[in-house]
Amino acid sequence: MQAISSLLWFSLFCLINNINAGPKIPNEERDPEFWRSKAKEDLKLTLGKKEINSVAKNVIMFLGDGMGVATVTAARIYKGQLNGQPGEETVLSFEEFPNLGLAKTYNVDRQTPDSAGTATAYLCGVKGNYATLGVSPNVPRKDCIAQKGREVTSILDWSKAAGKSVGIVTTSRVTHASPAALYAHSAERDWEGDTDMEGVDGECKDIAYQLIYDNSNIEVILGGGRRYLMLKNQTDPETGKIDLNKQRKDGRDLIKAWAEDKEARNKFHTYVWNKQQFDNVDPRNTDYLLGLFEPSHMQYELERDKSGNGEPSIAEMTQKAIQILQKNEKGFFLFVEGARIDHAHHDTLPKKALDEVVAMDAAVQMAMKMTNEMDTLMVVTADHSHVFNIAGYPYRGNNILGLVDPNPAEYGPADGLPYTTLIYGNGPNYNYGNRTNLTDVDTTHKDFVFFSAVPMADETHGAEEVAIYARGPMAHLFQRTHEQNYIPHVMAYASCVGEYATDCDRPVRSVASGHVSMISVIFMCILCVI
Ligand SMILES: *[C@@H]1O[C@H](CO)[C@@H](O)[C@H](O)[C@H]1NC(C)=O
Ligand SMILES: *[C@@H]1O[C@H](CO)[C@@H](O)[C@H](O)[C@H]1NC(C)=O
Ligand SMILES: *[C@@H]1O[C@H](CO)[C@@H](O)[C@H](O)[C@H]1NC(C)=O
Ligand SMILES: [Zn+2]
Repeated sequence: MQAISSLLWFSLFCLINNINAGPKIPNEERDPEFWRSKAKEDLKLTLGKKEINSVAKNVIMFLGDGMGVATVTAARIYKGQLNGQPGEETVLSFEEFPNLGLAKTYNVDRQTPDSAGTATAYLCGVKGNYATLGVSPNVPRKDCIAQKGREVTSILDWSKAAGKSVGIVTTSRVTHASPAALYAHSAERDWEGDTDMEGVDGECKDIAYQLIYDNSNIEVILGGGRRYLMLKNQTDPETGKIDLNKQRKDGRDLIKAWAEDKEARNKFHTYVWNKQQFDNVDPRNTDYLLGLFEPSHMQYELERDKSGNGEPSIAEMTQKAIQILQKNEKGFFLFVEGARIDHAHHDTLPKKALDEVVAMDAAVQMAMKMTNEMDTLMVVTADHSHVFNIAGYPYRGNNILGLVDPNPAEYGPADGLPYTTLIYGNGPNYNYGNRTNLTDVDTTHKDFVFFSAVPMADETHGAEEVAIYARGPMAHLFQRTHEQNYIPHVMAYASCVGEYATDCDRPVRSVASGHVSMISVIFMCILCVI
């Protein structure tokens, strides 16, 4: 009896302390043949790789906000551990893409960038200044007067002009920096609504206004951020509250204006704000879909209300968006953002950050299943990194959210106290010098605020390169270290839009047969005759 109870206590102790009692190594990995054959498989795959040189009918861009390379590593381990594996050997869906490059993320005026200046680069093809979006780098931050005439257009504009359908899916407010650079021009990323622009000199329009009035042709808009589209005297349908600081005071009900525009043009349109309504949307008879699931950002996947009153996952939004956009014979451009990886990192909550990557990974998988690499270019990348580190020499399979095990004297910290594998360079839980004893602390809890070396209310971005994963037509154009603003040039070149629309003599492949389509055969023949 005594023995059993001690054992139970010991198990509980191990659970709390994330002690793994040694490395978890799959047996097969002890065999050198396993590693040789694995490498040979990779070699065969890589040698057999064929460039796809046809036109990309569709382009899907996935943006993991703040998803630096260390975050990808940790998320892969987290995903594997969720499935009961050691974790390190896990492969995320986009890690199977055949092409890979690196993007240099600095802003024109900052060594370490923000999400607005980087969005201008990876969506508009021009590097921007810190905190500015959809404007050229000769516009200083917050300078509304300088902005006039210095707007830059985006891959969404170019795709639209080519007759394609376009869509935006994000887990942040739809007016937040990353998606905003698709459709808006603003010398300040924080001018999301008219209430944010009091005292601004000049004639600039807020981002929500630009989304509705200057971009009435975006077929799919899904995310959070209702408050910037609602009137000051409207009660939020979900919370029953009014946000006097953020709801509009200009007398414009932007959600109503959106619907009236589609009504006037006789288009099937639906506005939804919860999961039940979203699930009821039939993509076959929907031309335009606006979904705003929160007054501000959407919920973290770990905390998401999955009921009818709640909100859809990023994978569900991606699926619905593709179903609607796929109806256009000329193809589509879709932007999908896993926005809250960044937010969780700013609060040094890595469990939430890693879980958001896994949620986006599921959305990538959904998109892979619904499209064909012969006619769809998929790009998965990040805007910037974070000061997020994976430290120590933990055993194989050690809980990625736990304490470094082993923590021996020879590598251990001078104060002899345990430490977590994940650590931040700066952030809210400053813990340097006189460190907290974490022995009995559950660091794997979603709300455990990880430690940092410099006290800051918000953890900051990091400046090193981020990865670009690509598959599909022209994906092989990502192959080394590139400037970040190269990305939309490749997407535009691949899909023959924007300034590359006239420079497009490549064949279009029809997916069903995998053969060159009849129209392009005729076109090529005409070219030959000429
Ligand atoms: C809310 O404000 C708008 C415009 O200012 C006005 O047209 C509308 O009647 C108001 N609604 C209510 C319920 O007060
Ligand atoms: C270290 O922190 C503990 C608890 O927060 C406190 O009691 C102690 O005085 C501190 N020691 C030093 C040297 O600051
Ligand atoms: C840390 O806490 C554990 C458990 O309470 C204790 O056994 C250990 O001695 C502490 N370490 C230090 C260095 O105080
Ligand atoms: Zn950020």
